[in-house]
Amino acid sequence: MANLNNTTIFSVMSALSTQYNAINLGQGFPDFDCTTSLKDEVKKSLYSNQNQYSPMTGNFELKQSIADKIAIYHHNVVDPNKHICITAGATQAIFTSILSIISKDDEVIIIEPAYDSYAPSIRIAGGIPISYKMKYPKYQIDWDELESLVSEKTKMIIINNPHNPTGKILTKSDLLNLQRIVSDTKITVLSDEVYEHLIFDNNQHESVLRFPELFNQSIAIFSFGKTLHATGWKIGYCVGPEHLINQFNKIHQWNVFSVNSFVQHALAQYLKEPEKFNKLSSFFEQKRNYLADGLNESHLKPLPSLGTYFQLYDYSEISQQNDIEFCKSLVKKIGVASIPLSPFYSDSEDNKVIRLCFAKKQETLDKAIERLKMLN
Ligand SMILES: Cc1ncc(COP(=O)(O)O)c(C=O)c1O
Repeated sequence: MANLNNTTIFSVMSALSTQYNAINLGQGFPDFDCTTSLKDEVKKSLYSNQNQYSPMTGNFELKQSIADKIAIYHHNVVDPNKHICITAGATQAIFTSILSIISKDDEVIIIEPAYDSYAPSIRIAGGIPISYKMKYPKYQIDWDELESLVSEKTKMIIINNPHNPTGKILTKSDLLNLQRIVSDTKITVLSDEVYEHLIFDNNQHESVLRFPELFNQSIAIFSFGKTLHATGWKIGYCVGPEHLINQFNKIHQWNVFSVNSFVQHALAQYLKEPEKFNKLSSFFEQKRNYLADGLNESHLKPLPSLGTYFQLYDYSEISQQNDIEFCKSLVKKIGVASIPLSPFYSDSEDNKVIRLCFAKKQETLDKAIERLKMLN
């Protein structure tokens, strides 16, 4: 994974954004707060004796609420005790999953542009990331091409659906292709689904949890930070078949043991109404449209975003600078921070594309639009 001075591109752009007092459409977090009802629930929990260790794999009530949610959304019946572990965010779940499966010289296929934690986590486990590249501008997966990367050493394939940074979503046919590739092999699928409830234009989130055969070889990863507008809380969970979650728990117990109890207890109550998540897609779809409409007359050209809270924009009409330099110059010249795409590729491929995060208040988007329209 390419980076700048050994610091992730997200930290680099956020630091620059702060230095220039810029509008930060770079790093993926909302600039609005989580709901008052959620905060009230956490407060209640904090003051009601929920402050000692919770069980290693998580608060039972929370795991039950998650199992209920999975039944509603994905028609899969999972056992809260055998199939779920609560984690300190998705990043820890990804890292622990990789450590629990990957040993020295094992190969892991990752799909680029790829979220930046995958490759370093694989290397820390002693494994070797093998990159499959989705090509600009469609960013589709040719599954036969991907299959040609599978070798005897392949132990894992990591997918991210909906996909950061492209906003692509996988279809049922994609998941069936993946299922075909891994069936009759010992390959585990790590399915990063942190943006599961941010799906636009009436599309369906095709979770690995919906495909029984695939589920049996998968660990699916989720983040409450992303779905509850509380990225700083660092709480998430993973779901998988008993044999994989058992393996996961063996590592989890020695590096985290258990996640903070009062937030788990509060989330268990909050999740008793899973319908709350139904509104998320339209909430973020409206923001995606607002930003894209606002930039309609600008020289930034949007690429389709069907999920996540990101949209890619092609800036080739404005500049031929490389994407990292272009993003830095945007902060300095017009005070808007964005994220370049090349650091998501191991070979730093540069297609003159930037990622904008639209999880922002309307006034923030207005200010950003006004400034980005000045570019010509
Ligand atoms: C694709 C993807 N996976 C995982 C994460 C990390 O989630 P968490 O903050 O819960 O660790 C992010 C955060 O940006 C992400 O975009």
